[in-house]
Amino acid sequence: MMSNTINLQKAATGGRAGLHGKNTLGLAMSFAAVLLAGSSVRLAAESTKFVPGEVWRDTDGNPINAHGGGMLSYGGVYYWYGEFKTGRTYLPECNKSWGGTRVDTVGVSCYASTNLTDWKNQGIVLAAVTNDPQSDLYFTKVLERPKVIYNRATKKFVMWMHIDSTDYHASRSGVAVSDQPTGPFKYLGSFRPNAGVWPENVTDADKIAGDSNPLARDFQGGQMARDMTVFVDDDGKAYQFYASEENPTMHVSLLTDDYLRPAGKYSRIFIGRSMEAPTVFKHGGKYYVIASGCSAWAPNAARSAVADHIFGPWTELGNPCAGTGAGNTFQSQSTFVLPVPGRKDSFIFMADRWNQWNLPDSRYVWLPLKFSAEGKPLLRWQDQWSLEEASNSEQFSLKMSPAK
Ligand code: GAL
Repeated sequence: MMSNTINLQKAATGGRAGLHGKNTLGLAMSFAAVLLAGSSVRLAAESTKFVPGEVWRDTDGNPINAHGGGMLSYGGVYYWYGEFKTGRTYLPECNKSWGGTRVDTVGVSCYASTNLTDWKNQGIVLAAVTNDPQSDLYFTKVLERPKVIYNRATKKFVMWMHIDSTDYHASRSGVAVSDQPTGPFKYLGSFRPNAGVWPENVTDADKIAGDSNPLARDFQGGQMARDMTVFVDDDGKAYQFYASEENPTMHVSLLTDDYLRPAGKYSRIFIGRSMEAPTVFKHGGKYYVIASGCSAWAPNAARSAVADHIFGPWTELGNPCAGTGAGNTFQSQSTFVLPVPGRKDSFIFMADRWNQWNLPDSRYVWLPLKFSAEGKPLLRWQDQWSLEEASNSEQFSLKMSPAK
């Protein structure tokens, strides 16, 4: 129903053309005002449409700029954190062999919403620095895939992120904290996780040092950590998943109770499978991962996996995507899976459609995540869809508690 949508202009930033001339991500302002007042108004079926791959705009009308992002739900509000990408896209000499284009690092952006469609810009909550080349946050370095989790005991919002040198050889994890979800976040520093610790599932062969064995090579100094996410389990324990050992093998690593460091317990998973862009969620008491293969900004076929225990063993379930576009995850790469508000065991798959030569014009591909009859995660392309379709529910509460 047109009256419930805002007809917005497309950003003429070049790069990939959108699929539609109209962006229906936003709601009518009056509706948004009701939401922000905390009402439990039910959502009209036509009022919220996600249009994957379109330019999505915030409540000021600007394109939402939060790439490689993650979601935190806290106090009835969703916070979307991501890489703020602006300015010229260029290819540093050191990344020429693999097409590793970049923009100068600006920092981590945050947007807030109560309905997942009206996003209010909260600004840069962790800023890059321009005056200290030694800093991890220096604008020529890499800050990617920020994820924020809330620690109930310390009442701190804890941001984890991939920190790297321009050439991605440093391969570190950074941590920042804030007292509020909207920052400012205080940067605590970076490290390579799990220095001096063998994984739970280590073998004798794994311990033999050599350049062909990054696990042993990096035992003292800490394990390489590139693409990453963090996941908080039902019992409050948090875990970091990171692409390690030059990328072929992922690690799942328990965090300390304050979520600020690795706790010294981790496991190697998807050994030799070269998976990155990990997302983690729980369904029916089992753990699921959806991740990508390793092909830099170019999309590839997603992978999925299930486990009874977070440290594994993990069983791969194949490509969760079906239908047209399944071979390259509908031209996108995973970044987060969000449980749908008000509907148990329903999830939104969130991904980035990277634009390698115009990174600020990278788009968002969100799709409802279903489960097949065999219980495997299932993603199908939708030109546009609403939360009701994700949840398979006639009625849908805008509050995060289950609909009554
Ligand atoms: C991808 C990775 C992105 C970014 C990119 C750089 O493989 O998932 O987060 O690092 O490579 O080319």
